[in-house]
Amino acid sequence: MLLLNLRKLSASSSTNKELKKLLKFNNIKSGDGVWTLNQTDGVGQYGSVWQGETNSHLAFSVYKCFENLNSKWIYSINSASALAVIKTLDYFNVPDLSIKWPNDILSGNKKICGILAENQIKGPQIKSIIGIGINLYEKSFNKLPNATSVFIETQKKPPITDFIQNLSQNLMFYMSFCVNLSIEELSKMFHNKLFFWKKKIEFEIDGSLVEALICRVHLNGLIELEFNNGKVKNFQSKEIKMIY
Ligand code: BTN
Repeated sequence: MLLLNLRKLSASSSTNKELKKLLKFNNIKSGDGVWTLNQTDGVGQYGSVWQGETNSHLAFSVYKCFENLNSKWIYSINSASALAVIKTLDYFNVPDLSIKWPNDILSGNKKICGILAENQIKGPQIKSIIGIGINLYEKSFNKLPNATSVFIETQKKPPITDFIQNLSQNLMFYMSFCVNLSIEELSKMFHNKLFFWKKKIEFEIDGSLVEALICRVHLNGLIELEFNNGKVKNFQSKEIKMIY
């Protein structure tokens, strides 16, 4: 299996923005990526600010061009990335890992990683910049009670080169499922790690709190919920907030 072609940056405003610039000028190949422990102006979901402690937080981005993936099933890119992160965190003994739809990785019920896949659909190709922010060596999160890190969970600081190599291998492995023929299999693996799958949990929807059962996440990324009155409905991530 070929490895990703990764470059370490001593600092970067945002590793996703870095790759977007290269893509704009056609100066990047599928599998190229960058990472840094000093990201200064990170971007999160829906343009939010993503901050990480210098020398503790890993900001990692990779560019992949998918040729055999129907754009209806674009969420498989997020699923594959999430599964790769879980496999790596599990290898470094982080306990109780799950994927909180749509893009968070939890240890227990605390966030340890966020993923931001920025996709461009160009004819039959999907050009994707996959950004992964992992709390690695932080000792505490005073302002973020719902966050945790590899160090907090394991009392160990894995060497960064081992961590990057392991993540790179796992990304290559799970990305290979992002082809039309394999997405059902990927979806099965994804659901096995899905936080609160087939369980009831509270959501905030249109300003009200409602309990619903998580039925599944469709291949296009919509979540299917069943409410206590028996009604079933699909939602996009910006329409609902899970309370956990
Ligand atoms: C989220 O909102 O949970 C997603 C956060 C994604 C952050 C990562 S860090 C590496 C890459 N570069 C960025 O600017 N953002 C992503």
